[in-house]
Amino acid sequence: MTHNPSAEAARPGPGRTAVVIPAAGRGVRLGPGTPKALRPLGGVPMLVHAVRAMARSTDVGPIVVVAPADDVPAVRSLLDGHPLPDRVTLRVVPGGDTRQESVRLGLAAIAGGTGGVAGPHASDAPDDGVDVVLVHDAARPLVPVATVDAVVAAVRAGAPAVVPALPVTDTVKQVAPPADRDPADPEPVVATPERASLRAVQTPQGFDRAVLVAAHEAAVTGADAGDAATDCAGLVERRGVPVVLVRGHEEAFKVTRPLDLLLAEAVLARRSVADGW
Ligand code: C5P
Repeated sequence: MTHNPSAEAARPGPGRTAVVIPAAGRGVRLGPGTPKALRPLGGVPMLVHAVRAMARSTDVGPIVVVAPADDVPAVRSLLDGHPLPDRVTLRVVPGGDTRQESVRLGLAAIAGGTGGVAGPHASDAPDDGVDVVLVHDAARPLVPVATVDAVVAAVRAGAPAVVPALPVTDTVKQVAPPADRDPADPEPVVATPERASLRAVQTPQGFDRAVLVAAHEAAVTGADAGDAATDCAGLVERRGVPVVLVRGHEEAFKVTRPLDLLLAEAVLARRSVADGW
């Protein structure tokens, strides 16, 4: 589908920015134990770091945390133990089976809804003043506020979808689909994309709210419903909406494997030394 500006919402003007934090993953690649978002970093759960990182941006008002369905009360009381600025309101809602579903449920909760995505198009937008939505993985707890602010500024400057990203340092190979081969065999390479044209994307990804809600609605009800995307920008791209990149930050890395936990601890330790000076 081609992007039709008149069918999407008007560009955001002065308004409020809401954040959806999908934190409902189990994080199996980190090994068994506590859900990933609740693993401690510097003695504080990763999710608390992620919420604070978003709350540091003065544009941010409502924050919706999407928690594992069984852990909603525990996550709520955990977050209640870590105060946030007065301008920030916090909701905790149960997530779904995929990241995409968790984000959809979080979007619905910005407006105080509980069900699927209510459609804030021009005519039926909730009257809550939120016109920009950031989606930020709980697994990226250390994103600097300057990166958050840069994403918000680019959306407010008129881009419907903005993604922080960094150049790729490793050469990347594309391999054949796994269907017809033994997983124990070496993987056949089918292509080597030109590295200079590749970017590794991070979060928070920022959106004109109506654009993001429409993309999630289409992902449930549209012709390509059921094709999961690994990020929200992917859903928006499918609809022909332009997506732009701003410079990401190396400290916005995703905590996925045990080594990432060590790196995150090192970043925190360096920050506390810097703060001490
Ligand atoms: O699995 P992955 O690392 O891509 O997850 C990215 C983010 O999406 C994590 O913060 C995770 O908690 C969240 N997620 C979710 N609901 C799921 C799966 C992942 O909120 N069902």
